[in-house]
Amino acid sequence: MASLDSNTISLTRFFLAEQKKIPHATGELTQLLASIQTAVKTISSAVRRAGITKLFGTAGNTNVQGEEVKKLDVLANELFINLIKSSYSVAVLISEENETVIEVETERQGKYVIAFDPLDGSSNIDCLVSIGSIFAIFKKEDNSIPTIDEVLMSGRNVVAAGYALYGTATMLIMSTGNGVHGFMLDPTIGEFILTDYDMKIPKRGNIYSINEGYTHQWSEAIQEYVDNKKNPCKGKPYNARYVGSMVADVHRTIKYGGIFLYPATKAAPKGKLRLMYEAIPMAYVVTNAGGAASNGEIPILDIKPEAIHQRTEVFIGSEEDVDEVLQLIRVHK
Ligand code: AHG
Ligand code: MN
Ligand code: MN
Ligand code: MN
Repeated sequence: MASLDSNTISLTRFFLAEQKKIPHATGELTQLLASIQTAVKTISSAVRRAGITKLFGTAGNTNVQGEEVKKLDVLANELFINLIKSSYSVAVLISEENETVIEVETERQGKYVIAFDPLDGSSNIDCLVSIGSIFAIFKKEDNSIPTIDEVLMSGRNVVAAGYALYGTATMLIMSTGNGVHGFMLDPTIGEFILTDYDMKIPKRGNIYSINEGYTHQWSEAIQEYVDNKKNPCKGKPYNARYVGSMVADVHRTIKYGGIFLYPATKAAPKGKLRLMYEAIPMAYVVTNAGGAASNGEIPILDIKPEAIHQRTEVFIGSEEDVDEVLQLIRVHK
């Protein structure tokens, strides 16, 4: 049994210290990160007890994406919205579960825009497989308060992004552009503790992660790529791993290396994953950990969104693995 650390680095302590490094920082971002932390702790607690408190199952409606909404989607969304609004740091919120943007009343407005997926991997809730939450925080170059018309910012306007993973333990992984850091929730004290400082993704892995049920709906390039992973000219085949929760699949990719792909299919010709609250935040984290993230043509962080629920293809992970699939896509053009 490890002894108690009397100088432990909590997430709050870590980001307070980061804030102090920036001259004239207002502390607004630190406030916002604190509110996200509270939302995530509450969701984690709800997830752990969902089977007992009858929080499994559907809420009875579908969202703007045409997906069946789960009770936990609703709860997680309300928590994110209420806590973020009360941080006095955000002007506009974008959520997977809300058709239109959510504007914060003037008295509580701040300079940030936040896009979030309150509960990622909804289909895994009822069978106790890992799920998550994802967020990206955007800011205008001139620091002014963005209007509703100005919310469609690219990944180049992200000042912080991250995800929570409700796995065998709850983790919060975050980057403010200065490395990627992982914090594990210690349930005995209710605090996130720094456990993974400056995370780096391997340059190459040996795992590919894609929903192979759609094999016959992929382009030739993707079919050839996955086939090469299974029947390589030299070396061992890659391992296949697919959880079906982007957070879990990308987290594993960061830790072990390899590639996660969600390409276009016949059913989803622009891909399934949403740019602003799934692809951009994960691309920001993976890129800051030394990996790569592309839509098959350009870096995901360079895509200028045209709609809040816009979808994109996603190829994300170890630099060499992502380069390999991009080369094949180019060859097949
Ligand atoms: P969400 O639960 O937030 O709607 O996201 C589901 C996403 C993502 O987590 C996952 O990678 C993907 O859907 C899985 O889709 P398929 O079932 O088509 O593989
Ligand atoms: Mn959904
Ligand atoms: Mn999702
Ligand atoms: Mn979701």
